[in-house]
Amino acid sequence: MNRRPRRLRFSPAIRRLVRETRVEADRLIYPLFVTDASDEPRPVASMPGVCQWPVERIAAEAEAAAELRIPALLLFGIPATKDPMGSGGFAERGVVQRAVREIKRAVPDLLVFTDVCLCEYTDHGHCGLLAGSTPDLRRPGLPEGYLLNDESVEVLGRVAVSQAEAGADGLAPSAMLDGMVAGIRSALDSRGFGHLPVLSYSAKFASGFYGPFREAAQGAPRKGDRSTHQMDPANAREALKESALDVEEGADALMVKPALAYLDVIAATRARFPDLPLAAYNVSGEYAMVKAAAERGWLEERRAVLEILTAIRRAGADLVITYHAKDAARWLAEERR
Ligand code: PBG
Repeated sequence: MNRRPRRLRFSPAIRRLVRETRVEADRLIYPLFVTDASDEPRPVASMPGVCQWPVERIAAEAEAAAELRIPALLLFGIPATKDPMGSGGFAERGVVQRAVREIKRAVPDLLVFTDVCLCEYTDHGHCGLLAGSTPDLRRPGLPEGYLLNDESVEVLGRVAVSQAEAGADGLAPSAMLDGMVAGIRSALDSRGFGHLPVLSYSAKFASGFYGPFREAAQGAPRKGDRSTHQMDPANAREALKESALDVEEGADALMVKPALAYLDVIAATRARFPDLPLAAYNVSGEYAMVKAAAERGWLEERRAVLEILTAIRRAGADLVITYHAKDAARWLAEERR
């Protein structure tokens, strides 16, 4: 046996030659927040470098991403008004619908995926319809405030169709409801959108790392939490079951979210479902931790970010959804020069 592994680390050139995992801009999806509640870009305090963009300004940010070779965006909308049914989520002139049209007009080759969820559109901040929130939604057998499954899936189907009508290239349902992928798939198919992929948040955990996102997307639950639909962080086997159900229901790609505290789940999902593209969501809290430490000079941002993205890829993710996308793409291009 070769007992001198350092031979393969002798120079930058040989290290580059034997490197097992690469991060490329081609693998990154850049999440963007688009708002109807402001005319100016609004910085998100807990996510330095991230803004809520007014619809009129979103195309410029999309162009900047495309110039860095980032192939895809993931759009989240912040409507000016909210209601118990989340009706802003499926309005023809809704904030995401208008943003998709703007972006597709300005940069037609950039893929635009849209988040399919209601939490940004409901006044109570939950991902779907709640028992007891309107007279029609009274359900005597269920506790007040319980997230209604099938009723919500039906609305999510309408959200997906209206985003598809606006020109979305793919739909990313994030609500973790049972039967959600099948419901959205059949809604899309019946409206002539059989060609659009569903990138499902197949294993999404009830995580403390979504904190800054709730500031960014203004979709925090008024009361209660998401533990009856998002997964218990303790459960890895159950994550495989959730992904298996989404595969059966027709998901075109799978996702594990968050990424860093769930690298084992990413690896297990990659091993169990070798045929599907797998995405990992490097979420807002993961981003905020790096930014906060870097601001204090406690770690070197560029090095930490590229190491994190490499680790997520090494664990088995094909694609990484990350707020670092533009910086990372810039650094990667510099390294190639
Ligand atoms: C729900 C949704 C959330 C995130 C993406 N989609 C928030 C939640 O489930 O509470 C979190 C993303 C992040 O933290 O970066 N629409």
